[in-house]
Amino acid sequence: MELRSACRVLLFPLQMLYHIVSATVSALLPSRRKDLTKEVVLITGGGRGIGRHLAKEFAKQGAKKIILWGRTEKCLKETAEEITLSGTECHYFLCDVANREEVYKQAKVVREKVGDVSVLVNNAAVVHGKSLMDSDDDALLKSQHINTMGQFWTTKAFLPRMLELQHGHVVCINSILSQSPIPGAIDYCTSKASSLAFMESLTLGLLDCPGVGCTTVLPFHTNTEMFQGMRVRFPQLFPPLRPEVVAERTVDAVRADKAFLYLPWTMHALIFLKSFMPQVALEEIHKFSGSYTCMNTFKGRT
Ligand SMILES: NC(=O)c1ccc[n+]([C@@H]2O[C@H](COP(=O)([O-])OP(=O)(O)OC[C@H]3O[C@@H](n4cnc5c(N)ncnc54)[C@H](OP(=O)(O)O)[C@@H]3O)[C@@H](O)[C@H]2O)c1
Repeated sequence: MELRSACRVLLFPLQMLYHIVSATVSALLPSRRKDLTKEVVLITGGGRGIGRHLAKEFAKQGAKKIILWGRTEKCLKETAEEITLSGTECHYFLCDVANREEVYKQAKVVREKVGDVSVLVNNAAVVHGKSLMDSDDDALLKSQHINTMGQFWTTKAFLPRMLELQHGHVVCINSILSQSPIPGAIDYCTSKASSLAFMESLTLGLLDCPGVGCTTVLPFHTNTEMFQGMRVRFPQLFPPLRPEVVAERTVDAVRADKAFLYLPWTMHALIFLKSFMPQVALEEIHKFSGSYTCMNTFKGRT
């Protein structure tokens, strides 16, 4: 082995130690946050739920323009009006992210009418809440098309310009269910797991692209209409997150250039336990916490 390579190998553990210590220190101390005043933020599914709160939070933190995409005009219009009233320029467009042609067409319209998007938030998703055998084939396909493929199309539409300008951020609102799936939401968990792989690959692929970053957020159950009816066994112990908190923490993670955010942070423990615990023990945890049967009472969006 030549001397240069040998030195690199010897220095590698020290480098790792440095990164771990510096990440711990910056997590504990208040660190610098990115200014959002020049950012044009596009949020898919921005009309309601977490997306609506994200739009309000980006506006509150000073974003220059907000663009909302979704399928339900009423919600998009209401959210856009609220944001415009608060003093931030806001536009909405009807766009089904599962429809590739529509995404490319609307991306062009956005560029012409509003300008270049510098922060893309992939938030839109659906859940059908059924087991594999009870699921309609089209419904299974639909959740993969919206939750996973939709992100391919939106990212392909907006990332090239971010790379050209050396300025941009791609955000994905994922879910803890991508790493700890539950029965009764097999389509959703699968789509979120592939969307997580998409983001991990994208994040690494952008390492050599100055000015362009990624943030993936993995929230626990959040109080919106999406998982309405779902019941965990100890709600006092595992209360659902509030969508405004998810939005607040997400925008802060974007400003801090954080690549992955688990909400709440205790979810790290779950992922750690999963990495070494025997399957029987994990099954007991699922039964004890009620996650094993929590989808039995699922109603979803009515
Ligand atoms: N709620 C939770 O417990 C929870 C937990 C972890 C992660 N998440 C994630 O957080 C994100 C937001 O979820 P939420 O709880 O806010 O759910 P929600 O209230 O049901 O909102 C979902 C949003 O996605 C939009 N959408 C759905 N299909 C679409 C399509 N084909 N094209 C464009 N927009 C579409 C919806 O708007 P239209 O219907 O108008 O299209 C709506 O604005 C999702 O990615 C979800 O997986 C949620």
